[in-house]
Amino acid sequence: MSYKIAPSLLSADFAKLGQEVTEVIQAGADLIHFDVMDNHYVPNLTIGPLVCEAIRSYATVPIDVHLMVKPVDRIIPDFAKAGAGIISFHPEASEHIDRTIGLIHDQGCRAGLVFNPATPLSYLDHVMDKLDLILIMSVNPGFGGQSFIPEALNKLREVRSRINQSGHDILLEIDGGVKVDNIHAIKEAGADTFVAGSAIFNTPDYLATISAMRKELSR
Ligand code: DX5
Ligand code: ZN
Repeated sequence: MSYKIAPSLLSADFAKLGQEVTEVIQAGADLIHFDVMDNHYVPNLTIGPLVCEAIRSYATVPIDVHLMVKPVDRIIPDFAKAGAGIISFHPEASEHIDRTIGLIHDQGCRAGLVFNPATPLSYLDHVMDKLDLILIMSVNPGFGGQSFIPEALNKLREVRSRINQSGHDILLEIDGGVKVDNIHAIKEAGADTFVAGSAIFNTPDYLATISAMRKELSR
């Protein structure tokens, strides 16, 4: 099993985002997690396609766009043009989930579906074979620096077994409250892709933090 670490730019220094992207990739990031919030679907406002375009030349790894916006379809082509590699969305933010997945693929990106802590996994029932990524939220979306909700571990176990049964190659990503001291347990529950914002960007040495995470993942 190969594990991916996806630092979330939400906790980076926005006044020097290009440099932050470069440094975190040098420190071993496998993806750059890009949190898009609209002050409507979630109670916070962050960054959009213009900022994605601005960092794309620094991002030598795929940009993993997490859309927390409603409605979602209209903005998808803009992110594809701005360099997104993966685009994930919340089922509650789309009127036609299957159509939104198709739209992401038509734009040449990989597609992910995101589950809030209280969102049921039944949304997977009829679209599983179309997904490239499933993102389990271990906090309620909107802010960095929140505590990990332990129930997410049960959800990960369930999704892991559904992915294995499906035989499809689908990344299982976790987002919210991931730290060096819980990443091992999260991996054991089935995640293979780990978003971490404050745990990486609020430390002085990104390489030391990401290396400590990898050490936990390898045991
Ligand atoms: C929350 C975002 C997360 C956030 C995670 O809505 O989706 O990606 O940046 O931050 P931490 O790792 O600090 O919980
Ligand atoms: Zn996120």
